[in-house]
Amino acid sequence: MNKRIAVRLILSLFVIASNAWSQDRIPIIFDTDFVMPPADDSMALMLALQSPEFEILGVTTVAGNESLERATSDVLRMLEIAGQAEIPVYVGADMPLVHEKSDFAVENYGKWYSNEPPPEPSGGFASKKAEEKSAVSFMVDTVMANPGEVMLVAIGPLTNIAQAIRAEPGFAGNVRQLVIMGGAVALLPQGAGNITPNAEFNFWVDPEAARVTLRSGIPIELSPLNVSRKSALTKDWYERMVVVDTPLTALLRETLGRRFEAEPDRLWLMYDQIAVASIIDPTLVTSERLYVDVDIDHGISYGTSVGGRKPWPGAEAAQQMNVQYDLDWPRFIEMFIERVQRPLR
Ligand code: RIB
Ligand code: CA
Repeated sequence: MNKRIAVRLILSLFVIASNAWSQDRIPIIFDTDFVMPPADDSMALMLALQSPEFEILGVTTVAGNESLERATSDVLRMLEIAGQAEIPVYVGADMPLVHEKSDFAVENYGKWYSNEPPPEPSGGFASKKAEEKSAVSFMVDTVMANPGEVMLVAIGPLTNIAQAIRAEPGFAGNVRQLVIMGGAVALLPQGAGNITPNAEFNFWVDPEAARVTLRSGIPIELSPLNVSRKSALTKDWYERMVVVDTPLTALLRETLGRRFEAEPDRLWLMYDQIAVASIIDPTLVTSERLYVDVDIDHGISYGTSVGGRKPWPGAEAAQQMNVQYDLDWPRFIEMFIERVQRPLR
């Protein structure tokens, strides 16, 4: 090999290495009311696990869709299936700050109050165990040790986040950014609720935590129902996704596939997946910067989020944040499918 080619080869190797070093991965804490598929939390975590843009420092669990025990049991098993069992799991809050179980809660979706033992996840219970440290201690310790570096991704009720804000006065000022799946904003298209007429589920389970969090001053990217409703995971998209055989697509065939066999025409909104995808590629969503606050009166609007272009009476402490309301669906679903189909990392 002559000298000129050798020099070119060394230079190209250096460029490749420096690119690898320069690709800063985003350190995230993934806070979730996790349930195995077909729940959106599971597919949002799949996307995060399959994306090299993230360094997942830990997963924290919270009660919401199901009980805290179910969220923890399912996510431990998911990390094993995804080949990333080294990611630590920290157990968080098993109940909202104030909201108590009611007849309405029992009759409508969400079993945060359940104390039933979790069912066996796909492939059996994980051998991996959760960490001794609590979710709030992990969040506070990690953010305070890495000021301005850590992004929080919250796709369930905000109980853990609010408790971390309250536990450490310096916490909010040291969080890089908080990406939330939650809320619904009537000011923007398709802003009705999904659990009560105007309230979205995550905010309704723990309205007091949502208000503490939104008022905290942490830079927030809000992914509310307005943008969730621009998605529709159908049987056709599912069948495209599972043509490739990996441990993740096998899990989807065993779970989501069964639901499509029973309900072939069902559309699944991709609430949590959009929140994660918007970090990977912010051009997938369209946002408006609004003041957003949360109703904590225990009346007909409990948990409702309200967005405005300027503060209004009663919301003097509301903070501005980016509120997502539109989605580039074709690019989003293509990205999602491509990454879920990738070989495990
Ligand atoms: O309202 C949708 C949200 O509630 C999603 O995060 C879903 O997983 C449930 O937690
Ligand atoms: Ca969720």
